[in-house]
Amino acid sequence: MAKKPLPILDLNAFAFDQGTVPDKALAELIKRRYKTQGPTSMLFYQEPLHIVRGQGTWLYDSKGTKYLDVYNNVPCLGHCHPKVVEAVSQQLSQLNVHSRYLHDTVHIYTEKLLATLPDNIDRLVMTCTGSESNDLALRLARTTTQKKGIIVSEVAYHGNTQMVTEVSPSSFKTQAPPEYVMTVPVAEVTHRGDGAADWFADQVYSAIQTLNDRGFGCAALLVDPIFSSDGIYSDPPGFLNKAVEIVHEHGGLFIADEVQSGFARTGDCMWGFQRHNVVPDIITMGKPMGNGYPVAGVASRLDLLEALCQEVGYFNTFGGSTTAAAAGLAVLNVIEEEGMLENSRQVGAYLKLGLHELQDQNHCIAEIRGAGLYIGLEFSEDGDVNRPDVDKATATLNLLRRDQVLVGTVGKYGNVLKIRPPLCFTRDNADLFLNKLGKVLKELS
Ligand SMILES: Cc1ncc(COP(=O)(O)O)c(C=O)c1O
Repeated sequence: MAKKPLPILDLNAFAFDQGTVPDKALAELIKRRYKTQGPTSMLFYQEPLHIVRGQGTWLYDSKGTKYLDVYNNVPCLGHCHPKVVEAVSQQLSQLNVHSRYLHDTVHIYTEKLLATLPDNIDRLVMTCTGSESNDLALRLARTTTQKKGIIVSEVAYHGNTQMVTEVSPSSFKTQAPPEYVMTVPVAEVTHRGDGAADWFADQVYSAIQTLNDRGFGCAALLVDPIFSSDGIYSDPPGFLNKAVEIVHEHGGLFIADEVQSGFARTGDCMWGFQRHNVVPDIITMGKPMGNGYPVAGVASRLDLLEALCQEVGYFNTFGGSTTAAAAGLAVLNVIEEEGMLENSRQVGAYLKLGLHELQDQNHCIAEIRGAGLYIGLEFSEDGDVNRPDVDKATATLNLLRRDQVLVGTVGKYGNVLKIRPPLCFTRDNADLFLNKLGKVLKELS
């Protein structure tokens, strides 16, 4: 099988130029979409879905067919969680305006969110997307350090602004990232045991040297602590800590991009970086923060914000609006009240156990990685990680979709099944998923 890196946005993407679907109504909608939105409009699956309703861990299409959602972390508490719906509706009916007035909900929310973060992180800038958050984080790092170089993981994705695309190697289709960006591999950590932190730190150290040689210096190491787009690398816990020390020693900052790993996702802690026992200088957040309402943010220290604001002003019209804060506050409350962290840990562990049982019967599954409800299933020929099997991963994904179960794929070669359901996923949901996955794997064997 071909071992060719795939750009992240090509993974599980419907090919507008080649794809056809038997359903006439669906084909018409796809045509209308392309005609009005063009090639930046992405659709999932060889047969795209026309979803009209969601509830908890379920999505419903226009014909009433029900799909088990084992993919979505934006509605992290479950689709249309009633407490978020109520908080947003109530706030929308009272006041929804730009962010330049005082408002209790905004301040209650900011204080509550900051209380979940390390003590040194005492300021929050609210934005609307993860991309905006990372864009601002890079500006903070550069202004503070007066350096330009950025280190990211080999298959990183951090968003879609010009600057953030430049530090997202997985977005590039024909070119490489600019010279001020150095990438470090991560996949090896899984096999390095106790030496993982040293090995990863060595990669980062050599990237710093190159950035210094090129005259950029290292402004920041920017990583998603669960390395989602790289293929989901969570273990061993702590493998990031020496690399962060080295970056600090060389005058750089550590930015934890929590867009994927934040908000109880990894089961043992609220934030992905906590798994590695490191304290970031900047923490960026997005996606799950508002359970579907666009809420995002950058948490950092006053000195960093002051450094930036001495040079340029920063204002975000919608970031930190009253309704964004109401959505964010409802999310934090529900995580607490409904024990989402514990559920992520327990159901995640249960699911992983079931996946290991499937692995025993299916040699195409080379590795199972991840933490809490963020799990990667690596497909390789004969279980050999050096022979990624993207065809098997893609076929599994599309057959699961046929069988009303939704997952995604990630990784350099797109051969890792991304299992990341809403945090309200139950053991019954896990059993159903394992059962359907088992059948699909049998069909493909
Ligand atoms: C790790 C990570 N950071 C940032 C982003 C960008 O977030 P947004 O699409 O909200 O701009 C993404 C989006 O997938 C992401 O996965």
